[in-house]
Amino acid sequence: MYKKFLKNNYKLQQYAHTKIPGLSGLLGKRPELYVPGGKWPTYYSKAKGINIWDLSGKKFLDFTMLGIGSCVLGYGDNDINKIAKKIINEGSMTTLNPIEDLDLAERLIDIHPWAEQAKYARTGGEIMSIAVRIARAATGRDKVLFCGYHGWHDWYLSTNLNKSDKLKDHLLPGLEPIGVPKELTNTVIPFRFNNYDDLKNIVEKNAKNSAAIVIEPARNKIVEKKFLKGLRKAASKNNCVLIFDEITSAWRNDTSGIHKEIGINPDLATFGKTIANGIPMAVLLGKKSIMEFANKTFISSTNWTERLGPACAIEFIKKHKKLNVGKILKYNGKKIRKIWKNAAENANLKIEVSGILPLSQFKILNDDWPIIITYFNQEMLKRKILASDRCYSNTCQDKSSFKKYEIACYEIFNNISKYLTDGTLKKKLDGPVKQMGFKRLT
Ligand SMILES: Cc1ncc(COP(=O)(O)O)c(C=O)c1O
Repeated sequence: MYKKFLKNNYKLQQYAHTKIPGLSGLLGKRPELYVPGGKWPTYYSKAKGINIWDLSGKKFLDFTMLGIGSCVLGYGDNDINKIAKKIINEGSMTTLNPIEDLDLAERLIDIHPWAEQAKYARTGGEIMSIAVRIARAATGRDKVLFCGYHGWHDWYLSTNLNKSDKLKDHLLPGLEPIGVPKELTNTVIPFRFNNYDDLKNIVEKNAKNSAAIVIEPARNKIVEKKFLKGLRKAASKNNCVLIFDEITSAWRNDTSGIHKEIGINPDLATFGKTIANGIPMAVLLGKKSIMEFANKTFISSTNWTERLGPACAIEFIKKHKKLNVGKILKYNGKKIRKIWKNAAENANLKIEVSGILPLSQFKILNDDWPIIITYFNQEMLKRKILASDRCYSNTCQDKSSFKKYEIACYEIFNNISKYLTDGTLKKKLDGPVKQMGFKRLT
């Protein structure tokens, strides 16, 4: 049935919405977030390196987030593919366990010596739920203090049950906790990133009654060491579990979680996203005294025991270390920022650039920003580049792809400047303004 819409992308998108709620399992893959109106390719036929082909075989350069931050080695990395194919041929799911589970645990503990045990899942939201469950089991307490984005599960979304829309400071405004049990009201308490008033008035006050303090050690920037120290102190003093969510921040600046660079250790840490370069994998590392509670509560799932995930994660970590991928990602992040800044300056546009180097994003400082970014994405698409206000570094961004992106940025920023001045920018859009409002593209 869908085949009859293949020649009309807009109709295909509309049809997809009728068969799959929201079109995609991930908010961040909805076409309406990039270029609404049917122009965004939506589906792909193949992907390699930094290139991606749509269903008609048209090739695009992907200068967005490469799998929403999952593929720092580029799409279809040869070494990861080689291991994946070997594992598929040898059997990826059996009655017995993969030895790669143990191998990966040893490697990750070696990189993060404060940890003693590992536990696996396949998605970020799952592994965060496991971390919170274990913290609650270990402390016998229900409340969780958190900052940042940690997935879609009940424990997290229940933040908004008291009608405060508190998740607007962490993810996006207007999230309705429909379907989340009302009994969870006030079981999680948010605090703001690097906010010392919240540290004193929320974290320090509530830690003694809380199971965990949860934070992403880097969001738009790396957390201040003093702030993290304050969380560590509050957790240790009150026997509360400190959890670092490194699902997005790890494997970017270095071959490790970013907390290693900050120099403060958690009790539990979670990893996911790019840890196996796009092969589903998620890891919880932790201190033995806490991780042991995983055996006292019930945490178990069939697909967490398949072999592709750990085998590809091992290959990823080996390659990451060997190529010094962290250095490449930071270097490429600097290049991306330079392109944005110079192109904006050349066009007389005010720009704000943020994020850690491998997770860079920009904003043109103008009230018409939603129109500007829609136009930017639309015009990039015409030049066969997938683009947005974020460009995550990967190892496949090379001289020629950067050049193409740079030329496009200069041309588009100049047009934006011209059309803002003569007031015609909105008229240049081929469709509606894109959906806005995301703190994070998840
Ligand atoms: C910090 C953080 N935690 C949790 C998640 C949820 O991970 P997943 O989308 O794999 O469920 C994400 C995803 O973006 C994330 O960035």
